[in-house]
Amino acid sequence: MQAWVIGNWKQNPATSHDVNALLDDLCAAISTTKQMSHDNSARCQIMVAPSFIHLAAVNGRLKDTSILCAAQDISGHSASVGAYTGECSAQQIVDAGATWTILGHSERRQYHQESNDSLLQKMIHALSQDLGVVFCIGESQAQYDTKQTLEVIDNQLAVIKEFITQQPELIEALPTRLIIAYEPVWAIGTGKVPTVAEVSATHKHIKRTLAGFADSLSNMTVLYGGSVNADNANSFAADPMIDGALVGGASLKADSFLTIATAFSQASI
Ligand code: 13P
Repeated sequence: MQAWVIGNWKQNPATSHDVNALLDDLCAAISTTKQMSHDNSARCQIMVAPSFIHLAAVNGRLKDTSILCAAQDISGHSASVGAYTGECSAQQIVDAGATWTILGHSERRQYHQESNDSLLQKMIHALSQDLGVVFCIGESQAQYDTKQTLEVIDNQLAVIKEFITQQPELIEALPTRLIIAYEPVWAIGTGKVPTVAEVSATHKHIKRTLAGFADSLSNMTVLYGGSVNADNANSFAADPMIDGALVGGASLKADSFLTIATAFSQASI
């Protein structure tokens, strides 16, 4: 199975100058590590998700490389245009050159009160424009402490089940246009990580749940996210249930990001 390593840049870098410097480092490091060689990019797909404001420029710089570009969110109001101040639609994201979007990141759920209903709308808009979806799920520290992880995840995955019910004509797209990213909220940006065995068991549950929704979802890609770095990437990559990583802080340095990508591409040999 092809691995995915995705850099979620969040609200970083601060300036276009710094975005260009990060891309310079990324492209230079890729050519020296041969990460972009045909075999390696076939084994591990690299993608970066910049802010909306940088999306078109980043895509312009990466369009002749094997690195893909994703948005971090899209409008839930309309897939195209409308009177929705401050929003950016799936169609506009595609026009800017992105082929994927992250949806349901815990920071969006926390700071923008994203619910299953709003995420379902976003997912419908994304896939109607052939924008792939990296759908984030994960439990809080309190939910982890009280052993509610699987219950929380089941509730979040109900969006996928409802999507299938409402959009049966789009179900064929899901195996190649949907990726699940399991990100325990308590592991994001904290340096704390679950054990590999815990992540593996949770991924197994996610894969089994998706397979229960539809036969065609029997082999879905599930990434781990939360304090993945150059030092711990190998241990996650070694587990067959972990198909890649969604990386925050460590994606803002080309060296650490590519070390993580290399760990996953080596593990999938
Ligand atoms: P960190 O890698 O900084 O913990 O962030 C993970 C994340 O939120 C990726 O979406």
